Amino acid sequence: MGKIIIKTPEQIEGIRKSCRLAAQSLKFIAPFVQEGVSTAYLNKLIDEFIRDHHAIPATLNYNGFPSSCCISPNEVVCHGIPDEKTVLKSGDIVNIDVTTILNGYYGDTSTMFTIGEIDEKAQSLLTITKKCLDLGISVCKPGNLTGLIGYEISKYARSRGCGVVYEFCGHGVGLQFHEPPEIPHSAERNTGVEMRPGMTFTIEPMINQGKARTVIDKKDGWTVRTIDRKLSAQYEHTILITDTGCEVLTDIDGEYSR
Ligand code: MF3
Ligand code: CO
Ligand code: CO
Repeated sequence: MGKIIIKTPEQIEGIRKSCRLAAQSLKFIAPFVQEGVSTAYLNKLIDEFIRDHHAIPATLNYNGFPSSCCISPNEVVCHGIPDEKTVLKSGDIVNIDVTTILNGYYGDTSTMFTIGEIDEKAQSLLTITKKCLDLGISVCKPGNLTGLIGYEISKYARSRGCGVVYEFCGHGVGLQFHEPPEIPHSAERNTGVEMRPGMTFTIEPMINQGKARTVIDKKDGWTVRTIDRKLSAQYEHTILITDTGCEVLTDIDGEYSR
């Protein structure tokens, strides 16, 4: 593991802009996420949107990943590869995860979409998972240890009977796609590193209806599914630690600044 990069004000401004574009990509795609569309079509629209804004999709060719975003429906935990065969249907829940490179700076965010009417258990998983992200963000301030994020998230998720994915984590981000530190979503209270102003990292809890364990698709080597094939949800933001707390760089709605 390398050293944690404390970003300069100039770097922070660059990362902020990339984060805003990543968040705008999710806003842009929302009206297209509907019954009957293939995930390959959504990927194409996102690719064009990012390039139209003078940026590059970070996932494309990243360690060989073949697409411009990750699209992960239902039992897919993360790293779903968009394809023509995967056509969204009523009742589906689906995560779209976008990472942009704008002027060399990375912004990383994901959110959940619903298709038609979803059942109560699926809705409840989405509500719990969003709350997990918010709890993680709520403990982000200088002096706190990064382990506190996963402590709060896992305590809450388990209290609601959910599995917390531990095989994939949040991560430092900004000058590269994945930087130190790792941000586990399940952790002991007094673990990790001290948060310091100028640190930028993601929080991206993957929360399962059933078991926490996941399996990677043997054929494509990417698609991560729940071991029991029950539903999984994920929300992701990129966070900046400030002198007094944190700024949610991928929040373009002012949801966290009120
Ligand atoms: N955007 C994902 C994350 O939040 C990473 C995707 S890596 C890829 O960290 F290779 F699958 F694209
Ligand atoms: Co991420
Ligand atoms: Co992401």
